[in-house]
Amino acid sequence: MALRYDFLNMMRNRVGAEGAAPEEVQALSGRLEIARRALRDRKADGTLGFFDVPKRRPSYDAMRALVRKLDKDVDTLVVIGIGGSLLGAQAVHAALGGLAANARGSRTLKLVFAGDATDPRAVRDVIDGVDWKRAAVNIISKSGDTIEPMAVFTLLRERLVKAVGRKKAAERTIATTDAEKGTLRQIADREGYATLPVPGNVGGRFSVLTEVGTFPLLAAGIDVEALWKGAAAEDAAFWKASPTKNVPMLFAGLQWLLYRRGKTVSVLMPYAKRLTLVGQWYRQLWAESLGKKTDRHRNRVYTGPTPVAAVGPADQHSQIQLYNEGPADKIVTFLEVDDFGTDERLPEPWPDIEGVSYFAGHTMKEIVHIERQATGEALVENRRPNGTLMLPDLEARSIGALLQALMTATAVAGELWDVDAFDQPGVEIGKQAMYRLMGRKNH
Ligand code: PA5
Repeated sequence: MALRYDFLNMMRNRVGAEGAAPEEVQALSGRLEIARRALRDRKADGTLGFFDVPKRRPSYDAMRALVRKLDKDVDTLVVIGIGGSLLGAQAVHAALGGLAANARGSRTLKLVFAGDATDPRAVRDVIDGVDWKRAAVNIISKSGDTIEPMAVFTLLRERLVKAVGRKKAAERTIATTDAEKGTLRQIADREGYATLPVPGNVGGRFSVLTEVGTFPLLAAGIDVEALWKGAAAEDAAFWKASPTKNVPMLFAGLQWLLYRRGKTVSVLMPYAKRLTLVGQWYRQLWAESLGKKTDRHRNRVYTGPTPVAAVGPADQHSQIQLYNEGPADKIVTFLEVDDFGTDERLPEPWPDIEGVSYFAGHTMKEIVHIERQATGEALVENRRPNGTLMLPDLEARSIGALLQALMTATAVAGELWDVDAFDQPGVEIGKQAMYRLMGRKNH
């Protein structure tokens, strides 16, 4: 079963003038078709690489060989990166429940994520939390120059060298970076680290299914082939399905339509705790891709929806008050899971107490689905548009499909908002300021 998108509660007959009219959705089809054509051209000329990643299954054999080559004492992989170089692997790892059961005979390493925090307490927690005699390191930086992961790497590498010596530390370090240039490439060449390439035509936040995300996931025993299969199926559906039956196109199209009506905040709210970090990943993807000062014709536009990561049902007792009664500027997208692979039926310890007996006999799956439905209905009552992305389950294949759909939706949204969804000058300017303040020469 594929990913589905229920956008009923985005429509005018449910939420009044705040929503989309059927004829507007029809009219949107033409624009969406133009967007898809433009993306097809960029895919064909090789400038947009992320579409082809799942079919290409990048460096699969090389990555498996690298995991196999790690000496038998290694049981932990410390993964160092930030932003697009870390969030994807973190989100998938959490979505699949950490250490995967489906190891397919490969080794299963514990993953420890670092590099996205530079405060001394966080760094010390990693230093103290890892048995360095049993650790390997995967340092990931496309540019090879980002201060946070590179600074943390120098520290953690020192721990590894202290624990196992310089030669073994080098054998246990894998650098994922640009194939030719950058500081990390220079260091990897000097130290003799094994390296994995970050494809030049895939930006950081679109790189989860490349070597950037899949190497650590493979090391953790996750079935990355299934991730790619799900993503490839979603990709095929995107190029084939008509705009009004196309998940990424409808998701991007409706958000764009309603953005122009003041719905400038895009909330992603999974009703599955394991998908919490998918919300964080989406937040980066949507923000860095669409938040732009200029459009593609260099006009000043200061545009872009503000993505917000929420989680149900916890945020029903926090954020939902604001979404229901605060500024009418939000579109909420729920992530609903059909089959959690497990369920619990509630016992009936106090049949005579109505306050708890009314839910006895129901299952947790029923409860979470009803919570999602009730939240949607409350939003409709307040005329707040909301939609639901429905995942068949929490398996690797479905997670791959979800990630590919959201990346594709982001590319489509870039076309609709008419911005370059693949650059991030607002991030780069901050990096340059940091280099300046830290006294780096030639920057
Ligand atoms: O999506 C992006 O491009 C950014 O979030 C980068 O991934 C992030 O800044 C880290 O960059 P790098 O991989 O070059 O260290």
